[in-house]
Amino acid sequence: MHLTRNAKVYTLISIFIVIASVYLNLHQKAASFFVTGKDTSTKIHEKPMLSFFGSLFAKFGIMANQSPQLRQIGPGFWNVRASFKLFKIIDIGTHMSIIQLRNGNFLVIDTVEMNDQLKKELDELTSNGTKIEAVVGVHPFHTLAFPGFYKLYPNAKYFGTPRHLRNLKDIKWTGQLDDDKESLSKWEPEVELRIPAGAEYVNPQPEKTNHFVSVFVYHPDSKTLHVDDTLMYAENPGILFRLFGFKAGTTMFHPSIKDHGLYPTAEAPLQFRDWMKRLQEDWNYENLCTAHIGVKAGGAHAVVEELLKNSEKFFEDLSERNKKKTPPTVGKQGEWISGNECG
Ligand SMILES: *[C@@H]1O[C@H](CO)[C@@H](O)[C@H](O)[C@H]1NC(C)=O
Repeated sequence: MHLTRNAKVYTLISIFIVIASVYLNLHQKAASFFVTGKDTSTKIHEKPMLSFFGSLFAKFGIMANQSPQLRQIGPGFWNVRASFKLFKIIDIGTHMSIIQLRNGNFLVIDTVEMNDQLKKELDELTSNGTKIEAVVGVHPFHTLAFPGFYKLYPNAKYFGTPRHLRNLKDIKWTGQLDDDKESLSKWEPEVELRIPAGAEYVNPQPEKTNHFVSVFVYHPDSKTLHVDDTLMYAENPGILFRLFGFKAGTTMFHPSIKDHGLYPTAEAPLQFRDWMKRLQEDWNYENLCTAHIGVKAGGAHAVVEELLKNSEKFFEDLSERNKKKTPPTVGKQGEWISGNECG
């Protein structure tokens, strides 16, 4: 693997920060134990220093503690930011959206880990969950919060990607979202769902890193687009993201687009590009809610348009490179490794 010198320096700095954060995190726990315990005298000065570093890290988004709550994005559309930590430390964030249909009922798009405050807010909005018509999982690897949500709201209808249905057997699924036109058009014209072209949706491989595909959800009434990983928007990126060139206000495709996110064929990059162009023509959105790591409120269509324009050469080059490569190797079914989830 060839790393540029900058990449090496960044990697070293990142490793240092991660180690320092783990250290401080552990010590902060120990310190608060001592402070709340009987013997406060010996540790009392350590705590302010540690919490100073803690809040500094929180500020840069490394140990960000978010308290999830409903944020209204537009008429009939709410988004919930929640924390999702890699290695328990680096907060890459995750999200859930709630859409009110014209019949008064609600769709829940994705799930996040619930807390008392969020449950209270959701209960108030949905008459204790009785008005939740359906819960929809739109990213194959955003699965972790589903069992907990199902326990709280078992009476809704549950829909998910094929991987949700394969992996979460304890949930009583009503159906899956797939190429079958009927499965994606259930809530049209109020809510439109589309699966990206040129990429594997049913069984993305390798599971650890191929998190490119997610079902795109468009709610015309609020002019809002909900996307998990395919598009990423850095509302307020933490220092680690900044180190890797992720500036505030950046919109980008999931990094796996560069290797295995798209099928390794000459057609795939162009198919995906054309699919995106079509989406831009058909969907008149202004707000973009992405799982990682934020919401672009207003002006989202324009920034995605610019991203597409700037990616034109990338798609063509990738297509050319793929032409010279050997044909794709299709991922093997049945090799499920744990620890691949990203939300
Ligand atoms: C929701 O549940 C709470 C607590 O059980 C109850 O007080 C309230 O009346 C319920 N609200 C509705 C709309 O059912």
